[in-house]
Amino acid sequence: MSIEKEIKRVTTKTLALLKKNRVKISALTAYDFITAKLLDEAGIDVILVGDSLSNVFQGNETTLSVTMDEMIYHTKAVAKGVHRAMIVVDMPFMSYQLNVDEAFRNAGRIMKETPAGVVKLEGGERIAETINKITKYGLPVMGHIGLMPQSIHSYGGYRERGKTNEEAKEIIKDAKVIEEAGAFALVLEKIPAKLAKEITASVTIPTIGIGAGVDCDGQILVTPDMLGLNTDFHPRFVRYYAELAEEINKAVKSYIEDVKNNDFPSEKESY
Ligand code: KIV
Repeated sequence: MSIEKEIKRVTTKTLALLKKNRVKISALTAYDFITAKLLDEAGIDVILVGDSLSNVFQGNETTLSVTMDEMIYHTKAVAKGVHRAMIVVDMPFMSYQLNVDEAFRNAGRIMKETPAGVVKLEGGERIAETINKITKYGLPVMGHIGLMPQSIHSYGGYRERGKTNEEAKEIIKDAKVIEEAGAFALVLEKIPAKLAKEITASVTIPTIGIGAGVDCDGQILVTPDMLGLNTDFHPRFVRYYAELAEEINKAVKSYIEDVKNNDFPSEKESY
């Protein structure tokens, strides 16, 4: 039996085992019960309740405005549909930057108020102390470096990170510091494939890439992007596995036509 079939519930230990056995980790985002249930039933390893919900669920330009209460609300809905996958929750902007105690309190809120067991924080060296405190008290942390959407205003755009030697060195250092601080896994966003390969080989914790090439230990995409629902956003790292925006458009047009022509409901569909 393959390792994956034996897994009843994906834990931090499972991800370490997958890396050790060179089995890739699959990860996608979810913000609601139905999507989470479908992803879990399909066998996804990790479901991230990403702060990308600010963009793809709430329609905002950036991830900055999403709140702790909103992350908790969506995580509760997601968790009801999940039996096997690991649920990871993004700590929203300003929930962990203020100070270490505030960060620990908010990570604790996620653990107390939802069934999720992992939080994700953006940042390298600057949040090492925070990761250390949260993990020391038994709450697993996934790191996130490279392009960090919560820092979008300082970058001035969503361009690839780590292209210059200086930036690449900083990202490598961040990866090592985060591992030492206690993170059990690391998201690498929008960095050169070569750099992601180097980081993946130099840390013992699993790396999960998004726009970071094929050599990471796993891959993550934002679900509405890969399902072709969010057609306004199509960077080159997003592959469409379905064209759901078109399908929905066709379905809704058919429904409208049937309603207008008295073709819906039929006798069979009536009481
Ligand atoms: O919020 C999110 O969806 C993320 C992924 C892009 C990794 O952090």
